[in-house]
Amino acid sequence: MSMVTEVDYGTPAARSDKIVTLTIDGMEVRVPEGTSIMRAAMEVGTKIPKLCATDMIEAFGSCRLCLVEIEGRAGTPASCTTPVAPGMVVHTQTNRLKALRKGVMELYISDHPLDCLTCAANGNCELQTEAGNVGLRDVRYGYEGANHLSDKKDESNPYFSYDPAKCIVCNRCIRACEEVQGTFALTIDGRGFGSRVSPGQMEPFFESECVSCGACVQACPTATLIEKSVIDIGQAEHSGVTTCGYCGVGCQFKAEMRGEELVRMVPWKDGKANHGHSCVKGRFAWGYATHRDRILKPMIRAKVSDPWREVSWDEAFAHAASEFKRIQARYGRNSVGAITSSRCTNEETYLIQKLVRAGFGNNNVDTCARVCHSPTGYGLKTAFGTSAGTQDFDSVDDADVIMIIGANPTDGHPVFASRMKRRLREGARLIVLDPRRIDLVRMPHVEADYHLPLQPGTNVAVLTSLAHVIVTEGLVNEAFVRERCDWEEFQEWAEYVSLDRNSPEEVEKISGVPADSIRKAARLYATGGNGAIYYGLGVTEHSQGSTTVLALANLALATGNLGRKGVGVNPLRGQNNVQGACDMGSFPHELSDYRHISDGNARAIFEKLWGVTLDKEPGLRIPNMLDAAVEGTFKAIYIEGEDILQSDPDTHHVAAGLANMECVIVQDLFLNETANYAHIFLPGSTFLEKDGTFTNAERRVQRVRKMMTPKNGYADWEVTVKLAEAMGVPMNYAHAGEILDEIAATTPSFAGISFAKLDEVGSVQWPCNEKAPEGTPVMHIGGFVRGKGKFVITEYVATDEKAGPRYPLLLTTGRILSHYNVGAQTRRTANVAWHEEDRLEIHPHDAEQRGLRDGDWVRVASRAGETTLRALVTDRVAPGVVYTTFHHPSTQVNVVTTEFSDWATNCPEYKVTAVQVSRSNGPTDWQERYREQAEQSRRIAETVEAAE
Ligand code: SF4
Ligand code: SF4
Ligand code: SF4
Ligand code: FES
Repeated sequence: MSMVTEVDYGTPAARSDKIVTLTIDGMEVRVPEGTSIMRAAMEVGTKIPKLCATDMIEAFGSCRLCLVEIEGRAGTPASCTTPVAPGMVVHTQTNRLKALRKGVMELYISDHPLDCLTCAANGNCELQTEAGNVGLRDVRYGYEGANHLSDKKDESNPYFSYDPAKCIVCNRCIRACEEVQGTFALTIDGRGFGSRVSPGQMEPFFESECVSCGACVQACPTATLIEKSVIDIGQAEHSGVTTCGYCGVGCQFKAEMRGEELVRMVPWKDGKANHGHSCVKGRFAWGYATHRDRILKPMIRAKVSDPWREVSWDEAFAHAASEFKRIQARYGRNSVGAITSSRCTNEETYLIQKLVRAGFGNNNVDTCARVCHSPTGYGLKTAFGTSAGTQDFDSVDDADVIMIIGANPTDGHPVFASRMKRRLREGARLIVLDPRRIDLVRMPHVEADYHLPLQPGTNVAVLTSLAHVIVTEGLVNEAFVRERCDWEEFQEWAEYVSLDRNSPEEVEKISGVPADSIRKAARLYATGGNGAIYYGLGVTEHSQGSTTVLALANLALATGNLGRKGVGVNPLRGQNNVQGACDMGSFPHELSDYRHISDGNARAIFEKLWGVTLDKEPGLRIPNMLDAAVEGTFKAIYIEGEDILQSDPDTHHVAAGLANMECVIVQDLFLNETANYAHIFLPGSTFLEKDGTFTNAERRVQRVRKMMTPKNGYADWEVTVKLAEAMGVPMNYAHAGEILDEIAATTPSFAGISFAKLDEVGSVQWPCNEKAPEGTPVMHIGGFVRGKGKFVITEYVATDEKAGPRYPLLLTTGRILSHYNVGAQTRRTANVAWHEEDRLEIHPHDAEQRGLRDGDWVRVASRAGETTLRALVTDRVAPGVVYTTFHHPSTQVNVVTTEFSDWATNCPEYKVTAVQVSRSNGPTDWQERYREQAEQSRRIAETVEAAE
């Protein structure tokens, strides 16, 4: 393997359709108008020396190394800041230019440490390379003058160091932080020779506004800002392109390797979802892959109170197969099932549902999308005909009004948030509907036009009220509705939303949002140009989650904000492969491509291929499996990559269900919380150890490439294959690409997708088939997949979960930038430095009433259970609302959430739980008992014996 490389064109690509022809060093070049001379030269392979320019950021023109001569023009302009012009004749290498460049380089080197041999960037330093390129052989000024060589290093960030002695003040880091990341954490402090890059007001990086995205590190041409992993390990010698294993943005990275050791992750500029950017998780938080907690050998035990016993893979597979057979023989075919995870690849998920359908002979397969975005699938399919978002991420560049509801993109989807922030800085308007004041409501250079801080549980009321304003004020796009929707359905809907009870004034009483804000926000969305809706789990995880998705679809249909760039209804998916997990047929009622299991034609495709007869009755959803387990009819489960004990609601109920099963198989990297109830543990592999594909929130299918040998011996898909074979289900795949081939052969939207296609074009957005061989970035252009767009009446029904005298506050949950889901991965990285524990956000008014101060231990109790954590007193939450994250098992906040769920899909109502908060002295009895039980349950026989 060798290093995959990307060209740095020096300046960003111009967007013009107009082509300009010029001559550079005797070669004719044709480029879009607005292109810099530097970039035009690179197009024909001429690298003009440069230091302050790089193509991720706008040109700055400060280093003066990139000078060129232009015939007919005086002087030597900088090629990075000079645009091309028709007929221009440029020379990049003349004696005058050579002398000037050497002079510039001499000045830089005279104030730069000459420790190249021991410098971490040795061999990968642009200053070093350009010194060679310009032919610098001597520094006339000597190295003894005033310099910065003794400036102190800043090592405060866990992942990168800042050594000001090596800084050439090229400003690339500052511009990357501003233009690419949009955080504005860096400035130049001081003047002239004394100037320095500084986070905030000369603060250490860790204490500044910096969010550790690493864009500055990537932009730095020297070793000034450099990854600590490169300092420790050295420069990489081979690399490959793969896709982030964390969130649904789907950033692509160049994984730079030294042997089997990962040196660093560099965001891939050709990644269509991230265009060379990343967040702290994808770029830096991969240390869990080699964490000592990883379990690398299969283990079994008879009872969960026994210590684990390590066994061979063969013994584990044989034991699992015999247990499942025994249980089915005793309790019936439907007594077993499986859960797959949105962290798995498409191929792994496909295999799990195949194992269940072809092997177990039932449809008891579900995915963790059940507990996050299942209402998205239901709502968008009902309204438009496809269970997926309508746009690609690039579409946001054409949005004029952005509406964000129930999502916190700067924490949950940071790289897309950076794109969004850039568009907002360019002038797009912003509406935020969220009970919390998320960062996007007000941050440097971004301010929402309207923040509607609605009470948790009132989404449907507020969205229907926005529709009320649009209809009653005559803001409907009638031409669009008449052409693209069912007019009669629209009229019924319009009549309904116009009812007085849906007016902003009435809805203010329920939601707490001022009527005037609702009216103004509705007018802006309907009349402000291209309106784009982005939403997250704050929409779906409610008893009316599916209704809320339908209400969003209604708004987009009524205003004609569908079927072109800059508009749409866009779910921001939480985990990396939520979209893919749903696409692959991992729901109990659907085969791949969302074909209902009762569809005989769809079943016939798989029956023929697999040589079995499929059950046409839908199987059990996750909550139904747990209910059945508690009742004693569901007895065995295979769970891959999911920690339902921590992530699913009503922990006591989940625990009771798991405890009642006779065989729980957990396949994971670590002994997670669910594994406390497991009888068989199959070690999992990381995204760095396997081949496959993930599908991101924009339906983009991207390659996951194996960068290192699986430490446990097998990639996850191989484990499922071997388990299936032990259970008598033949699965003959030589590599993961063959699984994708089977998916393509059976799934119409994936018909044109293969490893070879992805290797060729990088990524493809489904549907990809004969009609759309290159995929489909924007859906529903010219017509909806279902034919006519469907308006659905969205009656607001208050959740049964109500605040009252006993539980007067409403708890809502979410996540934070540095952690991912249950935290199993990120808690095993240096990311804990930013978030060591879950904290309960409480408004100062509510805190004062309870005599609570910032940092106090508090007890949060609901009718389902109680837990303790520390308080964070903040006005980010409205009075009456409290908020926390769910990343730490020590808090186990889902012990508090309830069994209520979405009426259509059973997606749990995580976002509304009535609670009481009071001062506490420490952990609850339940937490203490749980800790003890977890410790007992994690014992491994060898370790126990060694200790004895
Ligand atoms: S890591 Fe990101 S946020 Fe922090 S200073 Fe660098 S570019 Fe800015
Ligand atoms: S830290 Fe690096 S990118 Fe920033 S000004 Fe210094 S040399 Fe340039
Ligand atoms: S976690 Fe999400 S935003 Fe961050 S690098 Fe990974 S895919 Fe990108
Ligand atoms: S690269 Fe053009 S002035 Fe620095």
